[in-house]
Amino acid sequence: MKVAVYPGSFDPITNGHMDIITRASKIFDKLIVAVVRNPNKVATFTVAERMELIKKAVNGLPNVEVDHFEGLLVDFMRKKNARVIIKGLRAVSDFEYEFQMALMNRKLDPSIETLFMMTSYKYSYLSSSVVKEIGRLGGCIGELVPEVVLTDIQKKLINS
Ligand code: PNS
Repeated sequence: MKVAVYPGSFDPITNGHMDIITRASKIFDKLIVAVVRNPNKVATFTVAERMELIKKAVNGLPNVEVDHFEGLLVDFMRKKNARVIIKGLRAVSDFEYEFQMALMNRKLDPSIETLFMMTSYKYSYLSSSVVKEIGRLGGCIGELVPEVVLTDIQKKLINS
């Protein structure tokens, strides 16, 4: 069984993430969307909230699982018997950081490959940070996040 992991903060999930999840789920037998718990990074949504939003959003994709991890991604990959890391690339500006992480992960575990997928052009400007800023200021995020979680995200942002 070919298992891939799509790791990230997902704080919160956006339509850009959904684009990658939907496309990657068609390539692999199982795709695990893995929310990172990073003690050094202040998140707006808790890990439980982020996972709940993703679960709602991927409801129609039967081979997608939602999980979380703390610590090294390669350790989580080994635990899940996964050999492929999925990463989305939006623009050249993402490349340098992603390139460094891909090489470092390969150094940590040479059996693990990173596969980059280009985000669809219409989502190339989209990020969780932009969604949070617009949402907090009362702007419309309707086309930026999955419809099933729009109200949940709006409520949280207005109150944060
Ligand atoms: O959505 P993000 O915040 O860009 O995701 C970054 C993430 C979670 C993929 C990255 O921070 C990560 O892999 N963290 C786990 C810790 C780890 O393995 N670090 C070494 C990577 S070189």
